[in-house]
Amino acid sequence: MDPRVEKRLGLKQLVNNVVSAEEAAKLISDGDVVAMSGFTRAGDAKVVPMALVERAKNEKFKIDIYTGASLGPEVDKYLAEEGVIRKRGPFIADPGIRNKINSGDVLYVDAHLSHNAELVRQGIIGPIKYLIVEAAAITEDGLIIPTTSVGNSPVFAEYAENIIVELNISHPESLIGIHDIYVPAPQGQREPIPMTDAKTRIGEIGIKVDPAKIKAIVISEEPDAPSLIVPPDEETQTMANILLDFFRSEIKAGRLTNKLMPLQSGVGSVANAVLDGFADSEFEDLVVASEVLQDAVFNLIDAGKVSFAAATSITISEELQKKVYGNLEKYADKLVLRPQEISNHPEVIRRLGLISINTALELDIYGNVNSTHVSGTKMMNGIGGSGDFARNARLGIFVTKSYAKGGAISSIVPMVSHVDHTEHDVDVIVTEQGIADLRGLAPKERAALIIENCAHPDFKEQLWDYYNRAVEATGNAQTPHILEEALSWHVNLAKNKTMKKETTNA
Ligand code: COA
Repeated sequence: MDPRVEKRLGLKQLVNNVVSAEEAAKLISDGDVVAMSGFTRAGDAKVVPMALVERAKNEKFKIDIYTGASLGPEVDKYLAEEGVIRKRGPFIADPGIRNKINSGDVLYVDAHLSHNAELVRQGIIGPIKYLIVEAAAITEDGLIIPTTSVGNSPVFAEYAENIIVELNISHPESLIGIHDIYVPAPQGQREPIPMTDAKTRIGEIGIKVDPAKIKAIVISEEPDAPSLIVPPDEETQTMANILLDFFRSEIKAGRLTNKLMPLQSGVGSVANAVLDGFADSEFEDLVVASEVLQDAVFNLIDAGKVSFAAATSITISEELQKKVYGNLEKYADKLVLRPQEISNHPEVIRRLGLISINTALELDIYGNVNSTHVSGTKMMNGIGGSGDFARNARLGIFVTKSYAKGGAISSIVPMVSHVDHTEHDVDVIVTEQGIADLRGLAPKERAALIIENCAHPDFKEQLWDYYNRAVEATGNAQTPHILEEALSWHVNLAKNKTMKKETTNA
């Protein structure tokens, strides 16, 4: 046996279970509910899914796949395009599966990421026939050590009937010790989660499993697919500056110190760029308590700005992968990866008092946010953890550029075409135009601030016109709307490829 494998396969009784990816893939049957490790392209099983892709070229079968969050191309592109996926949850980000969802070929259950574990416990997700989990090691006492994400693997491992382990020897051994696996007891018998700050370790270094469930071990050397973050641009830099000034004003008001509160920053280029903005700021000793650690967090650790980072996954670019994984010891005492049930837990988020920064696709003049559906119908990615954080954070911030698609689309509309975050969960909005601090404001106060401070100049007059007519038409009602017109901007976009009024037919 390869000495690298021998070293990482501590539970020697499993040596005879080492098989090829093809053999492991044969264990999966048509109709199975299959759980997989992986969270935003990190720590996902890779070689068994690719063997399933090959199998699907000669055999028709469909399975349901549940994960932590989005996966790399093996599942969310190739398996989806091969027609193997019947139902998928709880988050995707790959255009391959997005197209299949939007053409009706794949059923998609878009859910808050903290909710999945409970759905598994209650049997709503399941029965899970197989869990395919990537591991950095299996210890002598039978702990599965995850790799670059934890996601839902602990609860999947507990409830899956069978487990296939992808033992990935390309991940650094120094991952051992980075995880903090805490699994709450069933509801009704549960103690408070014993975490009073993000740095406190509350669990084990790996996932406890019944070794009898491990039916196959496949050796892999496939790296994680790197993240596809677009670097910051002038507008995201402006948004970062606006946000930093806002934090300064909160310090002046005595609500924050220059350590701020633990920061959560969402997926995507905008959220990453905004976090990057901290690098040249006076803020220090920052703690990140997020679900995904993107490039910006490691840059901030290097810059001495972030003293500790907790999440459920590490999703970084190719360049950063080399730097971080080649030198993980340097980060080891500043990092912890937890199950998404814990990183996204309302109890923890509220206790720690997080500042959460997530991205909107569009938002409306009253502060409702759509993060998931283009024009209310086509799925983009999913709600991910944004709802877990926004509702429970001390400060729920949404960022977005004020326009999209070269200026044809206003990100601020009269009424959002789909609601992910209601006005009640949205404290602050930032675009490259400015900021609207909505805390303590009534709907009409919010509308004035959002239109005046955040809308793109090309759409400002049009928004004021809608709002003023809505006030008049409703007799100055609590939340003025002209219902026949509220979604006319999206109708205009569908007909004329722009939300600009000169071509409005509505
Ligand atoms: N209507 C239509 N398309 C829009 C749009 C709108 N109002 N606003 C943005 N878009 C398009 C952009 O043009 C871009 O399209 P492209 O990929 O064809 O260029 C795409 O949406 C992404 O927008 P971008 O501005 O590059 O933002 P992003 O990379 O930061 O992603 C979200 C934004 C909302 C898609 C992403 O943050 C997301 O999926 N969020 C939901 C999940 C989440 O927040 N999780 C957080 C917990 S960690």
